[in-house]
Amino acid sequence: MQKQKTILDFQRMKAEGEKIAVLTSYDFPMTGIMDACGIDMILVGDSVGVVVAGYDNTLPVTMEDMIYHTRAVMRVRPKAFVVADLPFLSYQTDLKSARLNAGLLVKDGGAAAVKLEGGVNVAETISAITDMDVPVMGHIGLTPQSLHRMGGFKVQGKGEEQAEKLMADALAVERAGAFAVVLEGIPMSLAQKITAELTIPTIGIGAGPHCDGQVLVIHDILGLCSKYSPKFVKRYAELAPLIGEACSNYIAEVKGGTFPEERHGFK
Ligand code: KIV
Repeated sequence: MQKQKTILDFQRMKAEGEKIAVLTSYDFPMTGIMDACGIDMILVGDSVGVVVAGYDNTLPVTMEDMIYHTRAVMRVRPKAFVVADLPFLSYQTDLKSARLNAGLLVKDGGAAAVKLEGGVNVAETISAITDMDVPVMGHIGLTPQSLHRMGGFKVQGKGEEQAEKLMADALAVERAGAFAVVLEGIPMSLAQKITAELTIPTIGIGAGPHCDGQVLVIHDILGLCSKYSPKFVKRYAELAPLIGEACSNYIAEVKGGTFPEERHGFK
């Protein structure tokens, strides 16, 4: 029987060199499947805006969206540790709204922790949230909510100056009290250095193999998103054609009158 995961497990896993496996999830059925497989942590990511709602980026995602999806995930009562993303504009304007929105993801959504994007610039916000005993996961490097500042979804931390800045961000996130930090879209040598420097676990996405754990978007690993497939994604299944085949068969049978059969009806 799997034990409920807590932030203490992730600290131990880093100390013992056990890798942390993280996936995103946004709904009840997918959460049930991955939780039964033993996933360590589930991220209710604001990537829901792209892979489920069809937006071009994560900026339009709202607190209401995040609470709705976090609740759906939590109805599974997963053994995995569930972290919910604070969406754009829910923590950037002032500390009071950051604390309120983080609290809502825990109180109304049921998440155990929240994630927010940024380094030195959000250190005070991370402290303000952890001060009310809500664990925070940081997220530095390619931070999708900063898409327009970065000039697109580009690898960050290339070159000495940028690398130093990212190391300072990582240290600031740790000092502010985060229990883990996502390193997204950075050179693997830099991710390795940050991982060695920090006492909290690093969770990589497009950051190479040396992080303490890895996270990927569930729709990406299942081959459900045909829009784009970044280099760092590994597809463990190609579900889109399978779903297409099932839909085509259904349409053909309805039109051909072969579904439903008598056995699908009631007497
Ligand atoms: O929103 C998300 O899914 C994320 C991960 C990809 C790290 O932030």
